[in-house]
Amino acid sequence: MAIIDRIKEKARADVKRIVLPEGDEPRTVQAAAKIRDQGLAELILLGDPAKIQAVAAEKGADISGIQIVNPADSPKAAEYASQLFEIRKAKGMTEEEAAKKVADPMYYGIMMVKLGDADGLVSGAVHSTGDMLRPALQIIKAKPGMKTVSSCFLMECPNKALGQDGVLIFSDCAVIPCPTADELANIAAAAADSARSLGGIAQPKVAMLSFSTKGSAKHDLVTKVQEATAKAHELFPELMLDGELQLDAAIVPAVGELKAKGSPVAGHANVLVFPDLQAGNIGYKLVQRFAGAEAYGPILQGIAKPCNDLSRGCSVEDIVATVAITAAQAQ
Ligand code: ACO
Repeated sequence: MAIIDRIKEKARADVKRIVLPEGDEPRTVQAAAKIRDQGLAELILLGDPAKIQAVAAEKGADISGIQIVNPADSPKAAEYASQLFEIRKAKGMTEEEAAKKVADPMYYGIMMVKLGDADGLVSGAVHSTGDMLRPALQIIKAKPGMKTVSSCFLMECPNKALGQDGVLIFSDCAVIPCPTADELANIAAAAADSARSLGGIAQPKVAMLSFSTKGSAKHDLVTKVQEATAKAHELFPELMLDGELQLDAAIVPAVGELKAKGSPVAGHANVLVFPDLQAGNIGYKLVQRFAGAEAYGPILQGIAKPCNDLSRGCSVEDIVATVAITAAQAQ
């Protein structure tokens, strides 16, 4: 069974409430009808009900039974504004600014998740990555025990010899441009969690990638990955993790045996941690385009409650898949 179908099964088994702030966006409305039909989540669409119903009628999408909330006249708006003010006042937000912010469906949706009125959020068909990430980072924040929020891609490769039956986690590919050694260690732990919760990988094997294997090259960039590896061992001793490893040493058994003999990870990695965002973002796209892998993401990880971003070029099916992933993370 394809990994996305397994995630959909998981979502259906314990249905969660997912808020969609871009409630009147046509692909979102079409996806909402499919999500309801497939029983993947209990949805809340944000926006003007008349506008949302008009879009649904135009697209022939049956959204009957789906909750619609208009942040502009919601009875919850005052409570959300007061809570937002409490969260952000130390950063200079005034009560008036907080009231204005919660009239924006993106902030309203984030507050719903923060206060437990929704279990997760999916947005980004209209908003840019930064516009969605900033309020999520400022309000939802990292989960306890994590210093930083990062992201991963769930990759499903045609070559089933790689990872676990072709399934791997790539991280970080979308959030932290230049991670410190500490941040890389946090990314590694969060990526291992993503492997377990989304990839169905019972034993994550985490490779800290570099252009060097076990000191074969000397450079400040290599030193950073070595420090991150040591930090990850110190902070998360239960992780099966090794570094620094070149990509081939991480995933090809014969090369791993040659370059990193005795490593519990080399040759068999199913979680790849990239040294920075340039490598991670280019890396997942190379595998997607050259190897024909399915790439699901970016999926936020290390965040206290699940919030996920869509590409502005997303399809209806991409929105359905992202809602299923978010619902599975919320369990
Ligand atoms: N984890 C936790 N908190 C964070 C993180 C993080 N990784 N990054 C920022 N924050 C917090 C900050 O501490 C700050 O909190 P505070 O206001 O309470 O002090 C708040 O978020 C805002 O921080 P800034 O540094 O001001 O945020 P900024 O808006 O400059 O940047 C962002 C954050 C948007 C995530 C930035 O790092 C970014 O642009 N990353 C790259 C995103 C991107 O373009 N990705 C590639 C495209 S996606 C794709 O191709 C699939």
